[in-house]
Amino acid sequence: MILSGRTILITGGSAGIGLAFALKFVELGNTVIVTGRHESVLDEVKKRHPKLHTIQSDVADPAQIATLATRVKIEFPKLDVLMNNAGIMLHRNLTAPTADLAGLMTEMNVNLGGVVIMTSAFIDILRANKGTVINTSSALAFVPLPSAPIYSATKAAIHSYTQSLRFQLEETGVEVIELMPPAVKTDLAVDIAEGGGITLMTTEEWSSNPLRPSRRVSSRSVQGRQNCSHSCAASPPVSSTGSSGRPLRSWCRLWSDRS
Ligand SMILES: NC(=O)c1ccc[n+]([C@@H]2O[C@H](COP(=O)([O-])OP(=O)(O)OC[C@H]3O[C@@H](n4cnc5c(N)ncnc54)[C@H](OP(=O)(O)O)[C@@H]3O)[C@@H](O)[C@H]2O)c1
Repeated sequence: MILSGRTILITGGSAGIGLAFALKFVELGNTVIVTGRHESVLDEVKKRHPKLHTIQSDVADPAQIATLATRVKIEFPKLDVLMNNAGIMLHRNLTAPTADLAGLMTEMNVNLGGVVIMTSAFIDILRANKGTVINTSSALAFVPLPSAPIYSATKAAIHSYTQSLRFQLEETGVEVIELMPPAVKTDLAVDIAEGGGITLMTTEEWSSNPLRPSRRVSSRSVQGRQNCSHSCAASPPVSSTGSSGRPLRSWCRLWSDRS
């Protein structure tokens, strides 16, 4: 991926990993637009980082995505990178029925639906500008966190969807990247305790060089799957789950603490 002179839209860029990438991309000489659900948070981000462009938009709402796409295509016709980063993680007990059946779909609508609908809404401009799609998955696509079963399933789906997208766009000049971040201390990961093989890094540590993978992990080494490598800076869970299984056990503890 060319890392300067791009026009980059990052969903969920008002905090955490998305904001760290946004600031790094600005530093590298790109025009960066970030979205999030909360206007007040975006206003604060804009105040602290005036070079960032901010637009309120919820990736779980197709109407808001349509409005965002219309506006971005007019205001930023050179848009050539879409980073589908917005995501939420909810811890759920699947062993008992819930009264909130619709609520079971919340992560599906943000983590999976948001990526699929955003990609469709921007695919014309990305093709026209021979751009890049970056989808943020997780190592939990391969080793699920039992306390966050739907989150883990959405990330497995993003991994699969990204592979198909890459195949379909092969002849179009659009590059498709799957980003699999390590465990990072953000609001999303606030409930994940360190120890027992789990280490969380800060966004500052990662953003000192977020674009350099610390190691390459082949999915073949994870589950004997087809040859497909990911840019993965994971310490947990993929790299350290294998022989000892300790991180998975720690996460199961998180699960049993909650049930
Ligand atoms: N942290 C980790 O250890 C880790 C590891 C692997 C993968 N990831 C993935 O990395 C991505 C970023 O996670 P993070 O840890 O940086 O989370 P975070 O700190 O909680 O930030 C999430 C960002 O997404 C926005 N957001 C949430 N729901 C949204 C929606 N419906 N529409 C638009 N924006 C929305 C949030 O802003 P608002 O709340 O204002 O909307 C915020 O800007 C996620 O896809 C996550 O699954 C994280």
